[in-house]
Amino acid sequence: MADKKAQLIIEGNAPVELPVLTGTVGPDVIDVRSLTATGRFTFDPGFMSTASCESKITYIDGDKGILLHRGYPIEQLAEQSDYLETCYLLLNGELPSKEEKAQFVSTIKNHTMVHEQLKTFFNGFRRDAHPMAIMCGVVGALSAFYHDSLDINNPQHREVSAMRLVAKMPTIAAMTYKYSMGQPMMYPRNDLNYAENFLHMMFNTPCEIKPISPVLAKAMDKIFILHADHEQNASTSTVRLAGSSGANPFACIAAGIAALWGPAHGGANEAVLAMLDEIGDVSNIDKFIAKAKDKNDPFKLMGFGHRVYKNRDPRATVMKQTCDEVLGELGITNDPQLELAMRLEEIALTDPYFKERNLYPNVDFYSGIILKAIGIPTSMFTVIFALARTVGWISHWKEMLSGPYKIGRPRQLYTGYEQRDLPANRD
Ligand code: SDX
Repeated sequence: MADKKAQLIIEGNAPVELPVLTGTVGPDVIDVRSLTATGRFTFDPGFMSTASCESKITYIDGDKGILLHRGYPIEQLAEQSDYLETCYLLLNGELPSKEEKAQFVSTIKNHTMVHEQLKTFFNGFRRDAHPMAIMCGVVGALSAFYHDSLDINNPQHREVSAMRLVAKMPTIAAMTYKYSMGQPMMYPRNDLNYAENFLHMMFNTPCEIKPISPVLAKAMDKIFILHADHEQNASTSTVRLAGSSGANPFACIAAGIAALWGPAHGGANEAVLAMLDEIGDVSNIDKFIAKAKDKNDPFKLMGFGHRVYKNRDPRATVMKQTCDEVLGELGITNDPQLELAMRLEEIALTDPYFKERNLYPNVDFYSGIILKAIGIPTSMFTVIFALARTVGWISHWKEMLSGPYKIGRPRQLYTGYEQRDLPANRD
């Protein structure tokens, strides 16, 4: 990183020199770590202008709509790779050789089962509990089952925890769905690939084992790839922050699941379908566009906008293509929600309010339509997102712990009372 400098001149004080750091690509950053010596902090609620860490995992160019995982464009990975190969890439930094891939797939396959006792955790939830509530609880509880691998300073422990999490998330996600349906939970099968196994555990029952549609399995695998990682988003930052205190990996991932649940983040895919249902018909679109523009109305166009992308989210483009492929393969023509979504996109993208603010469809806008076509219920959409994002979360957790790090502890601008005494003779 070149030794460029920035100067901060605070009235009446000597200029403060701050190093400017340059990455491989993307914006330079001003290293403000020495600023505390001036007795001042930076102030950046929502981290709109803050780089929280250095990372080599994912790069996003929001202006050009570029998303790279270890340098490879998301479009190429979605078309030419598969989810487990992408997991290997995110976790290890390079694509696996044939032998490394085979070994990785075998390791994952042999960690897909969960401890039989874990099933009892589900019984504490109502059958109609939101699946994300169950995911937060059950994934966090995994730390109670793996006392043999909770030393975060041990690289082998970090490695086996990463394998266990990538392997077990589909099993736990499917168990969450089966619990809500009152159906028996299905064991994973080692003769199926990752996406097939998930669909098997979701939709098969002990009474009937139907073959898994290769079209749906391929679409599921592509959806996993599109959700795998996304730089320092809210849930990944949550995982890093939890990890910085030395919390065990299962607790960190549970924290990430909780952060992802919000409708401004991973909960948006579920909210898009609810919004399309609320809009109901093309004739109502203008009313909802007006609501989205009304500052006094909390309504936002779900699946639109992004903190980083000020151009189309490249994942939304691939998702839309996949949507057309899956619906076409399934013979679903004129899907009313897809028609409505496409019309909504068309109208929104011609509206000055959206154009001025660079509000484009994001990864969540079309994903729900494909998930619904695959047969996934809306309440499970964010669970799918969490399942797929686990590899991104754990890759960032591993990256942080593999080098020097400090516990994350932001400061604040305090605007409360100055010191004051309690009133005397209080009764
Ligand atoms: C994900 O960070 C990631 O990488 C996340 C993610 C990942 O892979 O991890 O990509 C996944 O979370 C995608 C985003 C899913 N969320 C939604 O689709 C919910 C709807 N979108 C908005 O809530 C919003 O766009 C955010 C939260 C996504 C981004 O919010 P920002 O960056 O804080 O932007 P903002 O709220 O300051 O918006 C800027 C302006 C505001 O208007 P003004 O105050 O300038 O007049 O745009 C408006 C906002 O009101 N705006 C919207 C809007 N999104 C932003 N107006 C209407 N509808 C919207 N969807």
